[in-house]
Amino acid sequence: MSAVSSEQAFKSEEQVVPVKPEFAKSAWIDEAKYKEMYQQSIINPDGFWREHGQRIDWMTPYTKVKNTSFDDHNVDIRWFEDGTLNASSNCLDRHLETRGNQTAIIWEGDEPDQDRTVTYKELHREVCKFANALKSQGVRKGDVVTIYMPMVVESVVAMLACARIGAIHAVVFGGFSPEALAGRILDCDSKLIITADEGVRGGKTVPLKANVDEALTHPDIRSVERVIVFERTGNKAVAWHTHRDVRWDDLMKTASEHCPAEEMNAEDPLFILYTSGSTGKPKGVVHSTGGYLVYASMTHEYVFDYKDNEVYWCTADIGWITGHSYLVYGPLANGAISLMCEGVPNYPDSTRVSQIVDKHQVNILYTAPTAIRALMAEGDAPVAGTDRSSLRLLGTVGEPINPEAWNWYYQTIGEERCPIVDTWWQTETGGIMITPLPGATDLKPGSATRPFFGVNTALVDNSGNLIDGAADGNLVIIDSWPAQSRTVYGDHHRFIQTYFKTFKGMYCTGDGARRDEDGYYWITGRVDDVLNVSGHRMGTAEIESAMVAHKEVAEAAVVGFPHDVKGQGIYVYVTLNQGAEASEELRMELKKWVRKTIGPIASPDVIQWAPGLPKTRSGKIMRRILRKIAAAEYDGLGDTSTLADPSVVDDLIEEHKGIS
Ligand code: PRX
Repeated sequence: MSAVSSEQAFKSEEQVVPVKPEFAKSAWIDEAKYKEMYQQSIINPDGFWREHGQRIDWMTPYTKVKNTSFDDHNVDIRWFEDGTLNASSNCLDRHLETRGNQTAIIWEGDEPDQDRTVTYKELHREVCKFANALKSQGVRKGDVVTIYMPMVVESVVAMLACARIGAIHAVVFGGFSPEALAGRILDCDSKLIITADEGVRGGKTVPLKANVDEALTHPDIRSVERVIVFERTGNKAVAWHTHRDVRWDDLMKTASEHCPAEEMNAEDPLFILYTSGSTGKPKGVVHSTGGYLVYASMTHEYVFDYKDNEVYWCTADIGWITGHSYLVYGPLANGAISLMCEGVPNYPDSTRVSQIVDKHQVNILYTAPTAIRALMAEGDAPVAGTDRSSLRLLGTVGEPINPEAWNWYYQTIGEERCPIVDTWWQTETGGIMITPLPGATDLKPGSATRPFFGVNTALVDNSGNLIDGAADGNLVIIDSWPAQSRTVYGDHHRFIQTYFKTFKGMYCTGDGARRDEDGYYWITGRVDDVLNVSGHRMGTAEIESAMVAHKEVAEAAVVGFPHDVKGQGIYVYVTLNQGAEASEELRMELKKWVRKTIGPIASPDVIQWAPGLPKTRSGKIMRRILRKIAAAEYDGLGDTSTLADPSVVDDLIEEHKGIS
């Protein structure tokens, strides 16, 4: 496994891909405009957002714009607080007159011969019907609804139907295990679950309904009254509980097509989305209605330079924030044509992405570096026999992109014609924060470049002192932006502790970054105990607690290590209980155990037996040392003399050499 070496990163800083003049000519934003608007957005955020907040439809126009405090005693974030609106009517109703018959969603199935297009009018009808169906099942404004669905149009219908009646959706990625799902249902007390009999991905089925059934056997879950089941595969073997389960189709048969959109305050929560942190259980990140929608739609339009009638494809699953902001809310608020793909980039084979681009004449493609690296490993095969001339712009998100992958994406997929927007942001930020604007920003492979409008980025040292100029530091945001998360569901204290205590008065991103002479940001990765595996965020503590729940495990320490395709892999050091045998069978069993407890995305890549872990005399595990050993960087271990027992390090190195 090879890491992106610092030498490579350094070299890439010398590679600049200038804005293409012909692109700049027709782009929404060129360099002069970027500078002017950015200045204005930072000097006078209230005035800036007062103007740009009007890009969406309000039922009651706002008179107040920004009312935010990062004071760590009283973090309080409000945008457009006296305005009212509805997110679903912004994504649907307001387009009916001008583009009712235009495609809203192109759905591409897991198998290449399955697809479907849905117009704005049709989507509106489906959403209204399903909103009435939800009402008929007792869902009211303010209730939380859990959505555990595959990538089908009905997932979008479910989200927008919740938004229409003022229910708060909490989408859980379909790859999470029953236990992980149960934890999230418990945390948000949802009344109703929407799922499918099975999902389909990469030629395999995912037992979604069975997972829900298992999750609901959790003794503490008492809130769930109904499970609505969409029939995706029609597998008759799926269990049915008549007192609780209801068929999607049955509800839709009788539901009325008329459903007025509920008037929501700008600050009413639109959704909760769970994400991993460095400690404890996943956090329910809460997003607002007004600020979120303004920002999602504005970033979608400017970052992707979206023009009417273009086909835009974001490959993210709706279970992640990228799916929420850039598959559903941003594009639909802008009346875009949003392509949604049920499958994976390399099924049935590695030409799949290029085939879909040609089939639907995709203009804008937004995907993750891990997918790019997986395709890159196949050389030119992923583009064989395809044309891709419809592509105009490429984007990436979720993790740092190494310059090699950037260049492959640029040259092989985009044929050096399409700018790449490397977008840095987080579940908590709601929308893209640092990114090139394709008509304005000269590109440097591996750099997310410069902040978007209204994003006041800065670097601080470990004591929280601001650092100027070209430097390395902790990435912070020093003032609020409209799509910022408002709280952690049910735990505002944790929200403050996590984001506003480390560096007082600033939003702490948890990422490290370098700023170069041109003011470009280069994200260097998490500075906390959070891993980024294939662009999925994972807390080391979560995996460790799953591990130690196994009867043979005494202690476990999880670190990331450089992985060619995933970016980071999961490396677990395990100390077994006395008497347990360190066998190959047990290694396999432990991998399965974590998959079962959290989900396949948390499956360890390497398990190393560790009779002892390197600890300080006060008992703290020195992860720095474990990370170095996992990366086979035996020389850079630093000072080990403070360890309670320095000899464990040599044992771990020996064992590691045996594995690698
Ligand atoms: O470490 C950063 C990385 O992903 C983290 C956020 O993960 P999540 O909340 O799951 O959201 C992912 C999709 C928005 C960040 O703290 N990250 C995200 N985008 C980039 C990135 N790292 C480098 N470059 C990026 N473009």
